[in-house]
Amino acid sequence: MSHLHSEGAEPPSAPPIPLPATAIPGQPWSALAPMQDVTTLPFMRLLGTYGAPDLLFTEYFRVHAHSTLETHIVDSICRHGTGRPVFAQLIGENLADLQRTIRDIHRAELPVAGIDLNMGCPAPKVYKKNVGGGLLREPEKVDAVLGCLRQATEGRFTVKMRIGFEDDRHFETILDLIEKHQVDLLSLHARTVKEAYRSEVHYEYIRRAAQRLSSPVLANGNITSVSKAVRVLQDTRCQGVMIGRSCIRNPWIFRQLREHFSKQPVFQPKLSDVRNYVEDLFQATTLPDRTGRYHINHLKKFLNFVGLGVDTDGRFLHEMRRTQSKEELDQVCHRHLLQNGRADLPFPDEPIRGLVARPNCETAVGCSL
Ligand SMILES: Cc1cc2nc3c(=O)[nH]c(=O)nc-3n(C[C@H](O)[C@H](O)[C@H](O)COP(=O)(O)O)c2cc1C
Repeated sequence: MSHLHSEGAEPPSAPPIPLPATAIPGQPWSALAPMQDVTTLPFMRLLGTYGAPDLLFTEYFRVHAHSTLETHIVDSICRHGTGRPVFAQLIGENLADLQRTIRDIHRAELPVAGIDLNMGCPAPKVYKKNVGGGLLREPEKVDAVLGCLRQATEGRFTVKMRIGFEDDRHFETILDLIEKHQVDLLSLHARTVKEAYRSEVHYEYIRRAAQRLSSPVLANGNITSVSKAVRVLQDTRCQGVMIGRSCIRNPWIFRQLREHFSKQPVFQPKLSDVRNYVEDLFQATTLPDRTGRYHINHLKKFLNFVGLGVDTDGRFLHEMRRTQSKEELDQVCHRHLLQNGRADLPFPDEPIRGLVARPNCETAVGCSL
């Protein structure tokens, strides 16, 4: 593997393609993290109405011998209506299949700001196929995949990855490959694949990446609030933040970031605003064949995160998880978000310590290739 290793990053033969400008010039970038079954068309549209991020990333297109472009992801690209650029994420490892998929995206003239490669998914049934986070075990394979994607992509080619598989042994090598293949943006979730979603986030790796690469770096992992984003941006000197779970809990977070960096008063939602958000989520996720209990269960995927900000003893979460109908859910929302003067209470900036969104991403059955 020594041929992959160098003392420093290899100079790229062309500079990175600049990212699309931020909504307010000069601010750090904010990005919606790709989340399977969450960053769907309805959620993207909804975020657009609460304050869109500068950049959006789709759920991943699965790439394998028989894959075609999944219609619901194509729809999210074409119809999100936020007015902000969207990157299409891919997960896969077979070079011919990856090339074909990119050709399909270009031929269909999908309005993407770029193609993003997933090198971080920690689901065992994904990494066992050597895709997602599994790729991080093999720098030679990363070299081949990045080379192939760079060559096949017209325009921006970006990567989202973790710091390693079970440790950081290949971190610098892979950064050098990112530089070598002129990757236009690195979003770094600063945990190993084995650390999944709950460990501390090792932000110092984001700082190292930002120092070493000529392309911009987005910090990802537990960016829970404006103040956390400010701290991470200062500590790592990276160019922006990518936010996943915290924008499900707090859909105003991208607006709040913009207000903070514009030195304007930052919107502080109340529990009554959260009540309206729950209703908006319900309406946005309504489909002709998604009714009754099935719809409520679908909604719980989002409400598990919202509930992290409602009450310290987790009663909202507990009761919400037991609802089976819209009427029951409305009652729980009324009790915890409106009644007895709760409507005017501020929705906390940070998730409440000790509460856990269950089932969380580590047990997500949907994360498959
Ligand atoms: C439900 C869920 C689905 C996810 N799906 C994807 C995915 O499709 N592609 C990807 O690169 N990361 C995926 N992730 C990881 C997130 O993009 C992000 O890296 C991770 O949640 C850490 O950021 P956060 O602390 O802001 O949530 C997913 C995370 C969650 C919670």
